[in-house]
Amino acid sequence: MPLVTSTEMFKKAYEGGYAIGAFNVNNMELIQGITEAAKEVSAPLILQVSAGARKYANSTYLMKLVEAAEIETGLPICLHLDHGADFDICKSCIDSGFTSVMIDGSKLPFDENIALTKEVVEYAHAHGVVVEGELGKLAGIEDDVNVSDADASYTRPEEVEEFVSRTGVDSLAIAIGTSHGAYKFKPGQKPQLRFDILEEVGKRLPEFPIVLHGASSVIPEYVKMINDNGGAMPDAIGIPEDMLRKAASMAVCKINIDSDLRLAMTGTIRKHFNEHPEHFDPRQYLKPARENIKELVKHKLINVLGCDGKAFD
Ligand code: G3H
Ligand code: 13P
Ligand code: ZN
Repeated sequence: MPLVTSTEMFKKAYEGGYAIGAFNVNNMELIQGITEAAKEVSAPLILQVSAGARKYANSTYLMKLVEAAEIETGLPICLHLDHGADFDICKSCIDSGFTSVMIDGSKLPFDENIALTKEVVEYAHAHGVVVEGELGKLAGIEDDVNVSDADASYTRPEEVEEFVSRTGVDSLAIAIGTSHGAYKFKPGQKPQLRFDILEEVGKRLPEFPIVLHGASSVIPEYVKMINDNGGAMPDAIGIPEDMLRKAASMAVCKINIDSDLRLAMTGTIRKHFNEHPEHFDPRQYLKPARENIKELVKHKLINVLGCDGKAFD
């Protein structure tokens, strides 16, 4: 099956009260671990690539690795640009075969965000590609840009209908208290999300797919694995799984996960070297890392997103 857009995935996810996992990828082992997990539980998938990932791995390599995963699994896979900052990067991804792009104008004033997003939508739709826009600002780190808590702002529900109708976007990322990276809440702080905003957005945009960025749970087992094996991560707190499940049962159809993959990979490799300091063949430590990525993703697909068994519904 060729790469697909997220249109059908989101329609079914909305109706079924579950969400599609959008996992960030930048190397072969991540792509293999994620797609093998999805194949085992028959889940549809979004693999997403950031500007930083393209710079690190080269866009052609990533495209070919994703195509290989598609051949190996036969799953519906959507290849998505994560946080496209301008028209040019979106165009470059569309021209090279991505089936979905995000244009992230969330840091711009409302009208400028609309103008930029609309420009990308027009080009993307003319090429059969779908577009995710964003309203509201998440805190945290993405591509070396650090948005402080003070600069973060929740999505204003009263703006979403105008944004969607004037831009023509296919999905909308909103800010309800999630943030990028491993340090989402301060130590001692109780994780909270603004479900009232999500509910209001859902009412104003019936049957429209909403996207949740910054949705890693920062699984303590992996933070501990890092710290037990020579790491030095301060207290890291993520989004509780029950909150993600609740969001998935509402209008959220796409849940973005990157940090949890990083933690699982790094924890596993640190542990491996601690136990086998004599190893120097990359396959010796990348193999268990890939295995743990697979286990982690299976857990997310089944227990958090609820999209297992939905690949060919
Ligand atoms: O939201 C950002 C993603 O976690 C990607 O991170 O830009 O460091 O590749 P990156
Ligand atoms: P996390 O840092 O919570 O994994 O979020 C990833 C993300 O939103 C990618 O766009
Ligand atoms: Zn993001």
